[in-house]
Amino acid sequence: MPETPPAEVEVVEHIAEGRDIFTLRLRFTDPAQRTNWRFAPGQFDMLYLPGVGEVPISIASDVDERESLAHTVRAVGRVTRALAQLRPGDRLGLRGPFGQGWPLDAAGGRDLLVITGGLGCAPAVSVIRHVMRRRSHYGRLTILQGVRHSDDLLWRAQYEAWAQQPDTRVLLAADVAGPGWPGHQGLVTELLDRLPGGCAGALAMICGPEPMMTAVARALEQHGVAAEDIWLSLERNMHCGVGHCGHCQLGPLFVCRDGPVLPWPTLRPLLGIRGL
Ligand SMILES: Cc1cc2nc3c(=O)[nH]c(=O)nc-3n(C[C@H](O)[C@H](O)[C@H](O)COP(=O)(O)OP(=O)(O)OC[C@H]3O[C@@H](n4cnc5c(N)ncnc54)[C@H](O)[C@@H]3O)c2cc1C
Ligand code: FES
Repeated sequence: MPETPPAEVEVVEHIAEGRDIFTLRLRFTDPAQRTNWRFAPGQFDMLYLPGVGEVPISIASDVDERESLAHTVRAVGRVTRALAQLRPGDRLGLRGPFGQGWPLDAAGGRDLLVITGGLGCAPAVSVIRHVMRRRSHYGRLTILQGVRHSDDLLWRAQYEAWAQQPDTRVLLAADVAGPGWPGHQGLVTELLDRLPGGCAGALAMICGPEPMMTAVARALEQHGVAAEDIWLSLERNMHCGVGHCGHCQLGPLFVCRDGPVLPWPTLRPLLGIRGL
């Protein structure tokens, strides 16, 4: 059972993004909640379908957008497949926002790297939009996105639009590239070797599969990014979302409460240990 009663939200839009991936735009049915609800980039919600279950999903909207909230989901199991069936007008429960988001205070005035793999782009969209709307508060923004196959890239037009923004560069990598792929064929870590001017001194935000994030964090250190400036967004099985049940424990941490965004020096000794 949820720890606190979920708020009721209504699906206003279901966007098919790719194979098994969709975005739900949700709106609180209570107008007061719609007005007062706030979140920080990198936080997540628990989406609750009565009789089916509840899952943690990152918030993929712009923090400044008041009317609806976006969640981009891959249908992998019981709850996410049921979420995939929802259409405009359907209602569900939402608890949140939960967790610690991206380190925006530490990022002020700095060059930023946002490095994502696969659907890891979803939790990073809100921070990219936040930076875009406050462009003068931050230095150069470099966005690197890796996918297994070039056909898996979501939001291609959005990446192209971001690449046109001032002091912003976007580099894409695909392990396997189809015809017309504008990016690199290979791993996202290889893009770091190709960055004109390098990335030393930047603050990095990483989201993707854990082996990818670990490889990127190690490569960044070799490229002169300080360990304390490298931040990763983790996924773990969750139940309560608020640090009570222990489902998401990682060593001394509860990922729901202390994360999901955590600094590399904290994670380095914990990631890759069997059983943690
Ligand atoms: C903080 C946080 C943020 C998250 N943000 C997002 C998000 O923005 N979008 C999103 O799609 N997911 C996100 N997830 C992952 C999402 O919560 C899980 O995919 C979901 O809980 C699976 O529930 P289920 O009932 O559908 O699948 P289950 O029935 O629990 O699992 C079915 C099968 O899928 C496998 N599986 C479970 N999770 C994943 C996964 N992530 N990828 C591949 N296989 C998996 C399981 O091992 C199992 O074999 C996030 C997780 C966390 C902790
Ligand atoms: S999900 Fe319950 S402690 Fe984190």
